[in-house]
Amino acid sequence: EAIEKGGYEHFMLKEIFEQPRSVKDCFRGRVNADEGHLVLGGLREYLDDIAKSQRIVIVACGTSWHAGLVAEYVFEELARIPVEVEYASEFRYRNPIIKEGDVVIAISQSGETMDTLAAIELAKSKGAIILGVCNAVGSSIPRTTHAGAYTHAGPEIGVASTKAFTAQVSVLTLMAIAVARRKGILHEDTFRRFLFELERIPEKIEKVLKNAEKIKEISALFSEARNFIYLGRGLNFPVALEGALKLKEISYIHAEGYPAAEMKHGPIALIDEDMPVVFIATRDQSYEKIVSNIQEVKARKGKVIAVVTEGDKLIPTMADHVIEIPITHEVLTPLLSVIPLQLLSYHIAVMRGCNVDQPRNLAKSVTVE
Ligand code: G6P
Repeated sequence: EAIEKGGYEHFMLKEIFEQPRSVKDCFRGRVNADEGHLVLGGLREYLDDIAKSQRIVIVACGTSWHAGLVAEYVFEELARIPVEVEYASEFRYRNPIIKEGDVVIAISQSGETMDTLAAIELAKSKGAIILGVCNAVGSSIPRTTHAGAYTHAGPEIGVASTKAFTAQVSVLTLMAIAVARRKGILHEDTFRRFLFELERIPEKIEKVLKNAEKIKEISALFSEARNFIYLGRGLNFPVALEGALKLKEISYIHAEGYPAAEMKHGPIALIDEDMPVVFIATRDQSYEKIVSNIQEVKARKGKVIAVVTEGDKLIPTMADHVIEIPITHEVLTPLLSVIPLQLLSYHIAVMRGCNVDQPRNLAKSVTVE
């Protein structure tokens, strides 16, 4: 096992550090900025159908569901197709409205999640085109879908999903770009810029990982916390949910993710000097807004840990701790902003003496109801 962990103390840490490579593997043979092309072989036959579809429904569970929420923003922004993201377990027990020609994307690391499989069967029986975004090659979901794209992140052993999430977001982003291109609504220059930025993502993840020591120091200050709030807006809202999920899964600290603006409708009541609040506050269209949310938390003496874009001068004057990530295209930000949150939860869990790779009560793949 020590050999399998490649010198890391835990699989989770190894998998966090593998992300520059796993994202690169996911782009390999698919993205080529020099030649200006983007190919998703597994979707080729269905690209026209997706481009023509009136609606996309994403079904998934857990972390994969969070990747789906990121994809909702990206698809709607680039491909201008309405997207709904459903928990597979809820979708399957309703009488969901699915019309022939609707596209259903099932996201699953293991490809074996029972609820997601059942959601697929239901959508299929209603005439939907089913696409899979899976990591485990040859697993049940890719075998039952019409088409799809593998995430190629390699085996993920840690129960808390890390590299599978960034690979899912990567593939879904490629899908959205490919569909936007096919629809003829993504200008050549913008397309080229995306390809260029996508190719830079692995090295930028590498740069975020260089902050690991600093994140460990911050973790030490909060390892005794009993609650955490994670706030983000836009594309960083699902990242907030994912950060909170990572923390509760492995450290057993109660954590909630919220869209930052919703804070005033509830979570703000929880804020006092003992409440750590993690803001994902990168430079994007909601920057000014999230700055005022940080002020609202500071006014109530909350402890602010902020993930910011490098070079940010303002937030460091307000937050208690900042973690910088490199600048990228706004749509690609979640691929970078989630990394510090993975490390934060990892270090806090280790400091609390938790079994990070096999947290209590959780399974890597849930093949029962
Ligand atoms: C379990 C795992 C999670 C995972 C979820 C969905 O709860 O512990 O890490 O996100 O199942 O699994 P899937 O394999 O379908 O992505």
